[in-house]
Amino acid sequence: MANHQIKIITEEGESVSFDCAEDEDIITAAIRQSIYLMSSCREGGCATCKGECTEGDYEIGKVSSQALPPEEQEEDLVLLCRCYPTENMVVEVPYTLDRIAYSEEGKEFSTEIIVLESLSTNVMKLCLSRSDGEKEIKLDSGQYYDLEIPGTEITRSYSPANIANKKGEMEFLIRLLEGGKFSTFLSHEAKVGQTINACGPSGVFGLKADGFTPRYFVAGGTGLAPIISMVRFMKEWGEPQLCTIYFGSTLEEEMFYVQELTQLEKEMDSLTVKLCVWKATDSWHGEKGSVVDILKKDLQETTSKPDLYLCGPPGMVDAVYSVCEETGVPKEKVYLEKFLPGVS
Ligand code: FES
Repeated sequence: MANHQIKIITEEGESVSFDCAEDEDIITAAIRQSIYLMSSCREGGCATCKGECTEGDYEIGKVSSQALPPEEQEEDLVLLCRCYPTENMVVEVPYTLDRIAYSEEGKEFSTEIIVLESLSTNVMKLCLSRSDGEKEIKLDSGQYYDLEIPGTEITRSYSPANIANKKGEMEFLIRLLEGGKFSTFLSHEAKVGQTINACGPSGVFGLKADGFTPRYFVAGGTGLAPIISMVRFMKEWGEPQLCTIYFGSTLEEEMFYVQELTQLEKEMDSLTVKLCVWKATDSWHGEKGSVVDILKKDLQETTSKPDLYLCGPPGMVDAVYSVCEETGVPKEKVYLEKFLPGVS
């Protein structure tokens, strides 16, 4: 199988080169050579690894049309996690050299379970504390960690709800999936005091500097975790933008973190929280309707187009994305992270 030379050119014009086999995607080839380009889902769904091919030819594997629309494919934009070179290639990426890592060393550490709590019928809270002697959690809110199931080499990626801290503690919201490996571990084997190895942080989902533009945060299910982390970060640093959290579930009993969100709203003058239950009973005091419909109504009524941060299952993210198009929110103002059902 032929090997091709890949040259990545960063925003400031620096370059990194490595080789890639024809049946290998560019992100995997780079990792094989200890080069960690920006990537997140590695399944063609999030657009984190997007670049522009300026020389050479390639094939593109299966990708989400939101992450790489057909018109962008025609303009030679590529998702490197689904890009298979057929010639030597040059790819320009929209980030600087310091975002490329050359080793995972220092990113792995051991932790101990300090809280394990059921939050709803299918969501658990898992809190971990570093047990390797360090007391610092480095994190840009929105990033994720890989957690390893003890006694195996199986890992799953989760974004924490906490912010960076010097206590060494992390707080995860984990959806339990029937038959899911991490879910089975959490439901049947995990205990307070047990060791879990973590690796991270990784990923680029997070707050973007955009002046005083209001921020709408839209979360479905455990997609709430990175959203809370970002809003907690805004509180910690006194960021002044007006912000609204739209958190949706189908049924009332599936709602969780209501108290935490209500508390956050009390503590931040700039924050409004909308708890949206699609099939609400008369006794529900929050918003009644799907998060997508409630967001749509607000977007139709507002004159200043906000920045939108979305995290949730693909169906919700796709529906919100369509609402943004319908209501004239430009796609450059929509930042999204889908979590994929197969990875719990
Ligand atoms: S990392 Fe390539 S699309 Fe998500």
